[in-house]
Amino acid sequence: MKHADIIQTLNLEQKCALLSGETVFTTRALPGKGIPAITLSDGPNGVRKQAGAADHLGLNPSVPATCFPTSSATACSWDEKLGEAVGEALGEEAAAQEVAVLLGPGLNIQRSPLCGRDFEYFSEDPILAGRMAAAYVRGIQKNGVSACPKHFAVNSQELRRMASDSVLDERTLRELYLTGFEIVVKEAKPKTIMTSYNLINGTYANENAHLLQDILRKDWGFDGAVVTDWGGSNDHALGVKNGSTLEMPCPGGDSIRELMKAVQGGKISEADVDARLDEMLELVLSTHAAVEKAPRTFDAAAHHKLARRAAAESIVLLRNEGGILPLKPNEKLAVIGDFAETPRYQGAGSSAVNALQVDTLLDSIKADDSGITFVGYASGFERQGAAGAEKLEEAVALAKKADTVLLCLGLDELRESEGLDRADMKLAENQQRLLAVVAAVNPNVVVLLSAGAPVETPWAGQCRALVYGALGGQAGAGAAADILTGKLCPCGKLSQTWAQGHDDTPAKANFGGEGRNVEYREGLYVGYRYYQTAGVPVAFPFGYGLSYTTFEYSDLKADEKGVTLTVTNTGSCAGAEIVQLYVAKQDAKIFRPAQELKGFAKVFLAPGESRTVSIALDDKAFRYWNVKTDRWEVEGGSYQLRVGASSADIRLTAEVSVKGTDAPDPYEGLDLLHYVSGQIAYVTDAEFEALLGHPIPADVVRIDRNMTLGEMDHGRSPLGWVAQKVLRCRLDSSFAKGTPDLNTVFQYNMPLRALAKMTNGMVSMGMVDGLVWELKGFWLVGILRVVYEFVKNLSLNSQMENRLKNS
Ligand code: BGC
Repeated sequence: MKHADIIQTLNLEQKCALLSGETVFTTRALPGKGIPAITLSDGPNGVRKQAGAADHLGLNPSVPATCFPTSSATACSWDEKLGEAVGEALGEEAAAQEVAVLLGPGLNIQRSPLCGRDFEYFSEDPILAGRMAAAYVRGIQKNGVSACPKHFAVNSQELRRMASDSVLDERTLRELYLTGFEIVVKEAKPKTIMTSYNLINGTYANENAHLLQDILRKDWGFDGAVVTDWGGSNDHALGVKNGSTLEMPCPGGDSIRELMKAVQGGKISEADVDARLDEMLELVLSTHAAVEKAPRTFDAAAHHKLARRAAAESIVLLRNEGGILPLKPNEKLAVIGDFAETPRYQGAGSSAVNALQVDTLLDSIKADDSGITFVGYASGFERQGAAGAEKLEEAVALAKKADTVLLCLGLDELRESEGLDRADMKLAENQQRLLAVVAAVNPNVVVLLSAGAPVETPWAGQCRALVYGALGGQAGAGAAADILTGKLCPCGKLSQTWAQGHDDTPAKANFGGEGRNVEYREGLYVGYRYYQTAGVPVAFPFGYGLSYTTFEYSDLKADEKGVTLTVTNTGSCAGAEIVQLYVAKQDAKIFRPAQELKGFAKVFLAPGESRTVSIALDDKAFRYWNVKTDRWEVEGGSYQLRVGASSADIRLTAEVSVKGTDAPDPYEGLDLLHYVSGQIAYVTDAEFEALLGHPIPADVVRIDRNMTLGEMDHGRSPLGWVAQKVLRCRLDSSFAKGTPDLNTVFQYNMPLRALAKMTNGMVSMGMVDGLVWELKGFWLVGILRVVYEFVKNLSLNSQMENRLKNS
């Protein structure tokens, strides 16, 4: 133990007190023992330090900071160096604002384009997500503060996020949902990691011994602090025993007493508490020292410039018919679309940053010096409104005056938010209508799309160019102008497949449905792994993106350690190419996706320039998780190494022979027809059970601490029915108004126990148990217990706080 000297001076109460937060975003201090408090703040694309009232949903304001592009944007740069630079700037701003732990990056797998938080995550692919996240972590931690990769793990939807149970097989868990975290932990050594809200195969992530002990700590060697998501602790003592260090936000004295009781009653040992405390002290003391040393200012102009570079490298050119882009000097350009004036540059929720400054496309185009003639602006539509005839007429009149129309479309603020999954993948009706009427009078339409996740693009044929600007952060508009006018050559490539329609997406039948269980029936077949194996055509494939120049690939040399090839810029402008390496085994005995990304490299080339590009293959290149031997194995034989400009544009291939580990076939004798073919829409219950290795768990609502407030109508208490109805009405009316109330969404999906975890000690678990009695139909006894426990909690809390203050 690193801090045995301090630990031995603490009594059990003090030890337990240090393992939960004191306020929404700070830990507890014991000044008498030389232990300071530290601040944790969101988040992934900028620091969100709340100086006043604090919340975990991005509702109250925060200290201004640079708003970088969201992770789903920067992932499209496929540029680890850039990720590290952004991370370094984030860490610098955190330290300057006295933030010791930055709660990000998020690297959950984008299982479905409908997940409300896809914008906060990097990719549908674990290698790309893991490497980008590792780059961020390295950058953040260069400042001595801690990054906090999240949400560990299998947390790919917002619906019922605090109470949903992700049901999946061990191989899918390891290969798809954990590999990114494995990369981050092993390669970037984060000082903390945040567990997710959900259960995994019946056990909450935060108390899941398999996840936190077997995998995170033993297999990967993580020795940092595990932090709960806000209110994500279910059984704190079990969490501590199984590897969870810090309970957040501020559960109050009850959580401390719960831990003490668990030690005194033998449920966990004091050594468990000491082990967690040692991790906690290491985190607190090391990051506090770094924060103390750090300057209180940072170069905001330099960070804005970096944010602009990050946005520019992340923009993806999806369509460019007849080379309409870049815009030509002397061209008369009309700018249409509300997003030009009021940009959408980040997502809603806990990641929302109070940006230091925000560029707009309109200003950037007006300030452009490339010779374009700006002929006017029309907003064209209202963000959440219907198609207004007047706005359409104005847009059409303006479009007629221009050579080219730049149409700024996208998803509005309410369509992408933490806490809320998207209902569909569509662009708003009024925006689609606008495109149609504008294109009818001027065919030279360039669409610039602001969105953090894929949308359906049946309308793409109505525009000559489609530029995916993603959610480009505070400097995204300037970056987009640089790409549109040709000052910079687009080089981003998609980190998530754009399906032709939501109906084609692999998780659609098992995403965001009724009940708590989320069945990951599609197994490994997420994103391109599915589309390419099952032969489903897509709108824009994974890894796809156009450029203003062209690249040629030649001279591939390959062995099982990696590939080397020559890439030549054969066009007339300087640009960057993202070279991707996929591995395929066409004669595989153990079923696997048609091909999988195993490496990539980005190369900048002047016109005519050639360079040798090397992409190494690591231990993850050929392995698969064998559920029989319970470890990574390699199927021996011949593998195809495919080098391409996208997952669907393979330019060179080579065969290599790989020595296998001769493990027994884990699926021998099982009927897994649709997993073999990748036609996972037809997976039967029997097949899913065969893959899981056990029956599909029953999905029942139980009246216990984990019943959600939205489920109280399943209880036997009129009080519960009324409370549920009130919440439901508030929710429905906010949806009907088109402004979903995030707070109510959160409360509706919140389990009862979270009342005790998120009310700063006001509610105890004893009170929650009283509520449970009430909901079970013991009306009077239930209420009386709540009242009794309330008084008891109040008095115990004040005694404890006094003791802690004086220690
Ligand atoms: C989110 C986390 C976030 C935390 C603190 C939670 O609701 O899931 O990502 O870091 O709040 O704001």
